[in-house]
Amino acid sequence: MPSASGKSPWFVEPLGKQHDRAAFACGNETLDRYLKEIASQDARRLVAAPFVAVASTAPKNILGYYMLSAFGIDLGSLPAEVARKLPTYPVVPATLLGRLAVDQRCRGQGIGEFLLIDALHRAYAQSSQIAAVAVVVDAIDAQAVRFYRHFNFLLFPETPDRLFLPMRTIRNMFQRI
Ligand SMILES: CC(C)(COP(=O)(O)OP(=O)(O)OC[C@H]1O[C@@H](n2cnc3c(N)ncnc32)[C@H](O)[C@@H]1OP(=O)(O)O)[C@@H](O)C(=O)NCCC(=O)NCCS
Repeated sequence: MPSASGKSPWFVEPLGKQHDRAAFACGNETLDRYLKEIASQDARRLVAAPFVAVASTAPKNILGYYMLSAFGIDLGSLPAEVARKLPTYPVVPATLLGRLAVDQRCRGQGIGEFLLIDALHRAYAQSSQIAAVAVVVDAIDAQAVRFYRHFNFLLFPETPDRLFLPMRTIRNMFQRI
């Protein structure tokens, strides 16, 4: 994975009124509709925080987006070897990366990875103030599961479309940079 701070033609910022949500098309109607109709409402209601990637040359065009929220993992839903290393609280804190999508016109350029690294870095930075043992992702379909598996996310044994990356792994990733 690349560094979160290296030079890039893109940057990530909170979704704002200046961004052209209507033009976004990732090929998945649920994810498109979410950005167009619900993301700002969720932000206003403090349910989720939306972030978008834009190019410095065209800062209104949304290249991709992701959402972050606080989350609780049932200890029993984790693989036994992971749960064993945690205290026996019924629920442990995590950060949820609920959605992540890239406009289909700019796939394959590294924007998905750029967004994912940014989300992981943001979750890691927050975890020193508000603890989280992992970043959890909800994958929209089998291809999305493969995308997250490509970045070493682990499976919840009973929930095939939900995956996680331990914060220890994320910390090691950023401490090496
Ligand atoms: C999945 C998605 C975010 C990937 O975005 P992208 O910008 O095309 O991906 P990138 O160019 O950053 O690819 C980064 C790496 O991931 C790999 N990758 C991309 N999509 C992949 C997939 N579906 N399965 C496995 N690997 C994948 C690439 O091959 C690349 O690997 P490399 O660096 O080893 O060459 C994008 O296709 C998308 O928005 N899909 C629809 C929505 C979706 O599935 N969201 C996922 C979570 S809900």
